[in-house]
Amino acid sequence: MYLNKYEERMLRGEYGEAVRIAIEVIVHIGEALGAEKLIDISHAHISGISYFNIGDEGLEFLNDLVSKGAKAAVYTTANPSSIAILDPFTNVYGRDIVVKQYKIIELLKSLGVDDKSFTCIPYKIRRPKINEHLAWAESSAVIYANSILGAKTNREGGIVALMASIIGKTYYSGMHIDENRLPTEIIKIDFPIGNIFEASIIGLYIGNITKGIPYIEMNMNVEDDVYRDIIIRNLLASIASTSDSPMAIIEGITPKFDKIMIKGGLERITIDLAEAKKFSESICSNTLFIGCPHITVDELRHISNRIFLKAKSLGIEKIFVALPQNSEDIILIAEEFRKRGIEIVFLKGACPVVSNLKELNLHSLATLHGKAFHYIPKLGGIKTCLVNVV
Ligand code: F3S
Repeated sequence: MYLNKYEERMLRGEYGEAVRIAIEVIVHIGEALGAEKLIDISHAHISGISYFNIGDEGLEFLNDLVSKGAKAAVYTTANPSSIAILDPFTNVYGRDIVVKQYKIIELLKSLGVDDKSFTCIPYKIRRPKINEHLAWAESSAVIYANSILGAKTNREGGIVALMASIIGKTYYSGMHIDENRLPTEIIKIDFPIGNIFEASIIGLYIGNITKGIPYIEMNMNVEDDVYRDIIIRNLLASIASTSDSPMAIIEGITPKFDKIMIKGGLERITIDLAEAKKFSESICSNTLFIGCPHITVDELRHISNRIFLKAKSLGIEKIFVALPQNSEDIILIAEEFRKRGIEIVFLKGACPVVSNLKELNLHSLATLHGKAFHYIPKLGGIKTCLVNVV
């Protein structure tokens, strides 16, 4: 791999041991993937910060890196942590876990991670522009950045995004190169998507059949821009749950893509609702989880009437809402839900999916998000059903 003089000095350790380790990892991965050079990035996003995911080894690794002088060289955000540190749950998980989870967060902050982030929708904290090169982990954010924002990022692991943050660079390969951002098949959705639930089941289905980058022809019968964006976010997050796809091209929405660029001979697949509905189930719990990917307070307020309309008729009594760390004004909206007979618990800067939910004595959870439906049984260890609530 070609390295410029500055990068060579990094690799020789002239900017400290943490930088040397970081560039060594990035060069190593880049060379394995055949990258010719490194490129500058403007924003790194780190995932895998739950103590339940990385354990003592991950904590020690982070501690060691910070003690060697690691600092973010570019703007850096991080994914949500576990719910173990949140007020209603600290006793459930116990002091040892809580202290270790806090330690991980403090180490990340000392490294330079924006303490307002801790969310899986980093594009709501800082929205990248078209063509910006990023090093993002978190599959749902990666697919949104490539598909909706026209930014360029591979689907990195948490450690690689951390290393890229420390040197402000990543390897020039994969989604950073325009020729690699072309569709692998054409998927026509045969009915207008009208809500998060339909977007989730369609997304899970597309993830199962795509060879990499689906070109999606679809209509939505939703006028409201805020709700449309939440629906698209869920479609993409669901695709990224059942596949390794870093991008989907949505006709008329993905920037800088014209149908004329599609090569001939691509397979064409039509999906109808009945085919996709095999992912859905009847309601299995009176507790609902909203916010996978995270939802902002404004967005929640925007769709709250839709939730009120359906949740009570489905027997929902309690809602967990996951939202970014910097969320404000949650007391008023909690009161509105309470008046309607629904208890709401806000999970600021946290993700229940990576939180060992078995510890909560919860036996089942309903959700409207394809990603949560896919991962909670695997990672949280409890039964989950996908339902249409908004
Ligand atoms: Fe976000 Fe956790 Fe879902 S990180 S996308 S709430 S699995």
